[in-house]
Amino acid sequence: MRNLCEKEQYEAGIKRVLITKEEIDAAIVRAGKMIDGLYDGRPILLVSILKGAFVFMADLCRAVSVPCEIGFMCAKSYYQGTVSSGVVKITMDLEQDISQFHVVIVEDIIDTGRTLNDIINMLKVRNPLSLHVVALLDKPSRRLVDFKADLALFTIPDHFVIGYGLDCAEYYRNLPYIAEYSEEEA
Ligand code: IMP
Ligand code: MG
Repeated sequence: MRNLCEKEQYEAGIKRVLITKEEIDAAIVRAGKMIDGLYDGRPILLVSILKGAFVFMADLCRAVSVPCEIGFMCAKSYYQGTVSSGVVKITMDLEQDISQFHVVIVEDIIDTGRTLNDIINMLKVRNPLSLHVVALLDKPSRRLVDFKADLALFTIPDHFVIGYGLDCAEYYRNLPYIAEYSEEEA
């Protein structure tokens, strides 16, 4: 695996831009309007799944105009390079009692579907007023458990992607666009 601390190797990891910042911005404006329409003035709790969804959450919460509270949960999917081990661990739970809320889960990407499936099962038993899932990206060809988001902004092919919150070995989260990651050594 390449050493991403080295500038040349870091830059070689960015193969090509898949989704531009402008495309993301426009899709988030549309998603905000859909959320406003769905909840029609009722307050919601937006729950971001850390770390990957932190950038998406920051933009999406400013695109909705219903009253909204923000919450965070941290789920860690263990990776060896770009390959998921299938182990999902909740390392930080929500502080809110969700039985008082219409909950919208805000996730970066649905890949195998395991993370969201586990999180949804965990949250359902806490009896939220309602529970919906908004994902920035969806890779349906990789699904291992039957899971569908209520809203996915972009459907992408089976590429490992980086940027706009998504990482490879914790790097690239700060890229303003979504790019395909290159496995080839520089
Ligand atoms: P799952 O396989 O649907 O459980 O996906 C779990 C998590 O793996 C996602 O929330 C992401 O944080 C991460 N992940 C999946 N695919 C990618 C990718 O292409 N790039 C970066 N992270 C990914
Ligand atoms: Mg994630």
